[in-house]
Amino acid sequence: MILSGNLEFRAELKADLWDQLAEIFRNSPMSGRADADLKAAFENSTIKCFAFSKGKLIGCGRALSDEVYQAVLYDIVVHQDFRNSGIGTAIVKHLLDSIKAKNIILYAVPGVEAFYGTLGFKKLKTAMGYFRSELGDAHKGYLEP
Ligand SMILES: CC(C)(COP(=O)(O)OP(=O)(O)OC[C@H]1O[C@@H](n2cnc3c(N)ncnc32)[C@H](O)[C@@H]1OP(=O)(O)O)[C@@H](O)C(=O)NCCC(=O)NCCS
Repeated sequence: MILSGNLEFRAELKADLWDQLAEIFRNSPMSGRADADLKAAFENSTIKCFAFSKGKLIGCGRALSDEVYQAVLYDIVVHQDFRNSGIGTAIVKHLLDSIKAKNIILYAVPGVEAFYGTLGFKKLKTAMGYFRSELGDAHKGYLEP
């Protein structure tokens, strides 16, 4: 657990808080996920970050990492009432501090690239994605034709 001002980061989420996490996602561009899948994706991730302010869950992020060469960030989301006050930045910085791998990549929700730019991320020249079709419309805007 790390304290930074009013912000507290936890690596695990208590069982009764997954519903709150799902609600935060429902009010984000990553809505439409089954609650159980969301929970499983976080639980299966190498590194998890849940942000709390005064005991309230207000954001999250997760990473998959081989802890040597490569890591990838996913699901950086801040509660809609708490955006634009530095919490997303703090979550990403906390994840970056927690990852030992040398290279850290992500793909942004279309339009959010500038947020990651403020954190030092640069566009990848050769990044490619293979998204299985059952994920459907969720990936519109991510792939070139
Ligand atoms: C994107 C998100 C995580 C940013 O978190 P946040 O706490 O609101 O952002 P911060 O206050 O730390 O902003 C840091 C900087 O990024 C910029 N920024 C914030 N949100 C942005 C966005 N959606 N698009 C572009 N830039 C953004 C801010 O203007 C700020 O810039 P500045 O330092 O020059 O003033 C948050 O808005 C969110 O949860 N959005 C919905 C979910 C989402 O799209 N997540 C990204 C998945 S890839």
